[in-house]
Amino acid sequence: MEIIAGIKLKPTVHSRIDEADLSDPGFGKYMSDHMFTCKFIDGEWMAAQVIPFGDMLISPAALALHYGQSVFEGMKAFRMQDGRINIFRLEKHWERLNSSLHRMCMPKIPKELFTGSLRQLVDIDRNWVPMKADTALYLRPFVFASEAKMGVKVSEEYTFVIITGPVEIIYAKPIRVKVEREFIRAAKGGTGYAKCSGNYGAAFYPTQQAKAQGYDQVLWTDATEHQYIEESGMMNVMFIINDKLITPALSDSILDGVTRDSLIVLAREMGLQVEERKIGVDELKLAFLNKTITEAFGAGTAAVVAPIATIGIDEREYHLPAYSGSNIMFKLKSRLDALRTGIEKDVFRWNSIID
Ligand code: COI
Repeated sequence: MEIIAGIKLKPTVHSRIDEADLSDPGFGKYMSDHMFTCKFIDGEWMAAQVIPFGDMLISPAALALHYGQSVFEGMKAFRMQDGRINIFRLEKHWERLNSSLHRMCMPKIPKELFTGSLRQLVDIDRNWVPMKADTALYLRPFVFASEAKMGVKVSEEYTFVIITGPVEIIYAKPIRVKVEREFIRAAKGGTGYAKCSGNYGAAFYPTQQAKAQGYDQVLWTDATEHQYIEESGMMNVMFIINDKLITPALSDSILDGVTRDSLIVLAREMGLQVEERKIGVDELKLAFLNKTITEAFGAGTAAVVAPIATIGIDEREYHLPAYSGSNIMFKLKSRLDALRTGIEKDVFRWNSIID
C-alpha cells in the first residue's frame, strides 16, 4: 500500500466489509472501515491520520454546531475495468472545497493534504469499492469549526474529516419535480455557490412540502423574481430544447457542479450545442407547449444523471416524453461511465488512478 508522508496509519483490526452488501449498497447505508482526520490549530494543519471509522469527540461548544461554519464535498472513486481504482476529478473537487472554505472564512486545505489523504484512504479501503454498473465508493470530505467557544466569531480551530462508503446512483427512475415559487435555496450575494452544510439543511423544509404534494424534489427558481431556474434539489439541472443542451449559467447562487462541468465538456465534444444561460419558467412552459423540450435531467455526483419525468409549474403538470436509451442524457452518462472506468481513454486527465 502507498503510504503518504506525514499521514499516520492505524488500520482496523476488525473489518466490517462482510456486513455490507456491495451489490445493493443503496446510498449512505454503509461506511467503509476507515476515516481520515486532521486538525487545524495555531494556523497549521496537523495530526493527519487514517484510523478506524468511529465516533469522534466533539465539544458541545464547537462553533460549527452553533454558527454553521461547515463545508463538504461529494466525490466518487470507481472500480475500473482492469481492476484498478480511479478517484474522479480530484483536483476540481479540491478547488471547489477551497472556494467554499474561503466563503465561510475557513482555512484552505493544501493540495497535497487533500489528494494525499484521499488516495491513502481509498487505498486502504479499496475492497469497499463496488464493481457493479452504477455503483462507486462515495467520498465525503468535510471541514467544520471545532473551536469550543460560545462567542459569535470565526473559529480559530477546524477539523478536516473524510468518510467513505459504497453507493449506487440515487434516482435511477425518472423523478417528478416542482417549480418552487415561494421558498428559495440561495440569493445573490449569499452562499449558494459554496457547498456549505447550511444550504442543504435550509432546503429540507421546502423539499418536505414538495414531497407532501407528490414530488421527489423541487426545481429552485431565483430569489428575486421566482422566474429563472437555478438547480433541482441537490443537483444542477439541464434541458434538451430544440436539440440543444441548455443549463442555467453559473452564478453566486448556483453550485459549480463537477458532473455539470463534465457533462458540458462531453456534450461539446460530441458536437452538441450547449447554452449556459438564464432559463425562465415561461420559456419552459412554451417549450412544453411547442413540444420542443425533449429531455430534462438533474446532474450531480450522487445522482450522476437523474431523468425528470414531470415538472409541476404552478397548478399544472408538464410531462416529458418517455425516455429510452437513445436520449442525449443517457449517451452523455455512458461516455462519462466509460471515461471513469477506463473503457475510454482519459483524454481530459480527469482520472487519478490508485494502482
Ligand atoms: C452529491 O451529489 O455528491 C452531493 O453532494 C449532493 C448530496 C448527496 C448531498
